[in-house]
Amino acid sequence: MMVRDPLHTPLCAQLGTRLPVVLAGMAGGPTSAELVAAIGRAGGLGTFGATGMSAEALHDGVSAVRAAGVEAVAANVLLAPPTPGRGDGAAVKVAVAALAPEVDALPAGSPAEPAELVAAAIDAGASAISVGLGDPAPVADAVREAGLPLIAMAACVADAERAVASGADVIVAQGGEAGGHRSNFEVGDDGTVPLVGTLALVPQIVDAVDVPVIAAGGIMDGRGLVAALALGAQGVQLGTLFLVADEAAVPPSYKRRVAASRDVESVITAAVSGRPARGLPNTLVRTLEAAGDSVGWPAQAGLTAAARAAGAAADDAERVALWSGQAGALAGTGRPAAEIMDALIAQARGVLGELGAGP
Ligand SMILES: Cc1cc2nc3c(=O)[nH]c(=O)nc-3n(C[C@H](O)[C@H](O)[C@H](O)COP(=O)(O)O)c2cc1C
Repeated sequence: MMVRDPLHTPLCAQLGTRLPVVLAGMAGGPTSAELVAAIGRAGGLGTFGATGMSAEALHDGVSAVRAAGVEAVAANVLLAPPTPGRGDGAAVKVAVAALAPEVDALPAGSPAEPAELVAAAIDAGASAISVGLGDPAPVADAVREAGLPLIAMAACVADAERAVASGADVIVAQGGEAGGHRSNFEVGDDGTVPLVGTLALVPQIVDAVDVPVIAAGGIMDGRGLVAALALGAQGVQLGTLFLVADEAAVPPSYKRRVAASRDVESVITAAVSGRPARGLPNTLVRTLEAAGDSVGWPAQAGLTAAARAAGAAADDAERVALWSGQAGALAGTGRPAAEIMDALIAQARGVLGELGAGP
């Protein structure tokens, strides 16, 4: 009798992968074409964090991954509608000038709209589209017409149900441990969002929707992968772990900071972009929080971009947005993405064996 490999879930067939592992699209640069291709070659689904890229750069990136012989490649766009701020941005500008005295202004140019990015990714041969921070409705028709799976991230049951009603084929259940922006569709008037932990969220979303669920938030190794499968997820989406990969376009000081972080350290702040996101506290966050001013999402991200660009150029972890989940301490030191993936899978198989659930 053939025994089913517990790591080859039905989601793998849907995404065209050997393994149930998705590299989170990480806006702001980390998901280089090299990293996306390496994850695809290792058997997972690599995803470009496309928000902030030009349509041309995304097209080039997806084309490069396909030209490297990798068929599973996705692009992720952030869909949160603009929100008003509570100030005029004057204090943010002063704070940014103090943080980045070496930068006068960033080159002008407006970032591409989500629909343009999705069209570019589809044209270049993407095999899936993923969305975060909002109802997938605005891109659902284009993705369906292209015949691709639409993966939508949700941080609570109601948002997962809404995403499926809008056409999502797969839900990423994002627990409160996750690094980066909170994917709640609505943010409270006070700027806060409810935080439901991965262990509590995943089975509730699995029970609520009739599409495959991917677990995200605090999953850093084979133990987390097996735990996610036990909760009913068919795969995992990882951000923080792959930040330390050699191929991730992340300043070395940022990688070291993630690996050296402690469980209690990360904070949720809206001061960097105008929407709540989890990261490690540093001078950038403290200075912007102290400025107490915000022009809302995504305008705040535009206003603070010069400081973050200066920090990245200087490899200064105090001036970049150190988005990271609560389990960064498990990331380990820098190594090739393929090695990270191999260790993840080997440990998962070991845990499955110990549980008596191996193939
Ligand atoms: C540096 C960083 C950037 C991120 N950018 C995005 C993004 O652009 N789009 C998105 O849907 N999720 C983004 N996320 C969130 C991930 O999709 C995912 O929910 C999260 O990384 C999972 O938790 P983990 O970091 O503990 O693995 C980002 C996460 C990190 C750490």
